[in-house]
Amino acid sequence: MTITVVGHGYVGLVTACVFADFGNHVWVIGHTKEKIDRLKNGDPIIYEPGLKELLQKNIQAKRILFTLDYEKAIPESEIVFITVGTPPKEGGEADLTAVIDVARNIGKNLRSKFTVVSCKSTVPVGTNHKLEVIISKHKPKHVDFAVASCPEFLREGTGISDTINADRVVIGSNDKLAIQKLVKLHEPINGKRVITNLASAEMIKYASNVFLANKISFANLISFYCEKTGANVNEVLSGVGIDERIGKQFLNPGLGYGGSCLPKDVKAFLNIGKSLSLDIQLLSAIENINLKAQENFLDKIVKFSPGKKVAVWGLSFKPNTDDIRFAPSVFILEKLLEKGFQISAYDQEAADNIKKIFTNKISYSKDPYQAVDGVDALIVITEWNEFRQIDLNKVKKLMSNPTIFDGRNIYDPSELKKLGFKYYSIGRP
Ligand code: UDX
Repeated sequence: MTITVVGHGYVGLVTACVFADFGNHVWVIGHTKEKIDRLKNGDPIIYEPGLKELLQKNIQAKRILFTLDYEKAIPESEIVFITVGTPPKEGGEADLTAVIDVARNIGKNLRSKFTVVSCKSTVPVGTNHKLEVIISKHKPKHVDFAVASCPEFLREGTGISDTINADRVVIGSNDKLAIQKLVKLHEPINGKRVITNLASAEMIKYASNVFLANKISFANLISFYCEKTGANVNEVLSGVGIDERIGKQFLNPGLGYGGSCLPKDVKAFLNIGKSLSLDIQLLSAIENINLKAQENFLDKIVKFSPGKKVAVWGLSFKPNTDDIRFAPSVFILEKLLEKGFQISAYDQEAADNIKKIFTNKISYSKDPYQAVDGVDALIVITEWNEFRQIDLNKVKKLMSNPTIFDGRNIYDPSELKKLGFKYYSIGRP
């Protein structure tokens, strides 16, 4: 098939490369010339494991093409995916400006007899119907189309394998032919099929992300209880997660959920609930606990750090990505700077993005050992693998004071004690 993907972020570019790799002919539409030029040259712009290789392979095979021009891509495409951002507005509701703009451009450029326009961006229930109206208004009279919702569940850092080996493929549309075409395109993708109507598909995406955020906040709530009672949160939640009705995933307490999806989607869902006059207390509690998890950790650092020279390991919102959107590191760095801390930071992928916000207010180290040289405390914010079995004896020798604040519980408290560290983690004695 010939398809188009509008947008080339974590969702768009991964989707485009995966479908190109299956042998489809894929157009990717962007709106910045500099970025499109980089993509044409095989630079994915973002860091996502395996993406560069997949992109370059499919460019060479001439299966993926990049353009700024809707006129080139849309007329020959059977399916068009919209994957542009829906960032939160000041009040929390999703900003649909980009999605609406794209729908208008798609409408103006529809030429073939029948095109499926499928939105992968997370949008409030009812948005796809609005897109249908916009496209209808702008399309030429003789062409036909249908809208569909194909929400994306990939996680950053494992985007390619999540896409190919999905738990489920959700296809929502009120049009039979659109469903048939999307089912056909998704044939090589593993995972259960959920075929439903437009509104339900839109809702599945929000409900899934809000439930994941709910699990993480629940884990953090239990960690607060553990800190007050002497229980060990890791042991408690391992015990809880064995129950298959609950499941052990997404029960890791720490610094709360960050990233481009969970924070934004909980907020947007809260706003949708308000506009529907529903009780949104559960959603407010999820958000409050998420913030409290970061504040608790900060309080520990401020109270127990033996000095104000500290190292921070890990800046991305989670490992294996360079993404710092809603990353707990941003909150912690801001607050520590306000309190007069001097910070040397290390992250192999996300440092350049953090530099754009904090410029020279903090210093940046080339490796984790350089970061801890002469500091009073080490703060672990993101659990990159390279920190898990690092030479802690060497770390201790380099530090002025052997104190570690571990926001992700990656070390064993008794081992750290043996090594001579003062060690503060989450919800563990
Ligand atoms: C999420 C959803 O998982 C994915 O299905 C959806 O398509 C997009 O949003 P992503 O934002 O890439 O994916 O990351 P995810 O792995 O879900 O982690 C989100 C945040 O939660 C991270 O900050 C992570 O550190 C945190 N987290 C996750 C926890 O604090 N505890 C956990 O147990 C799991």
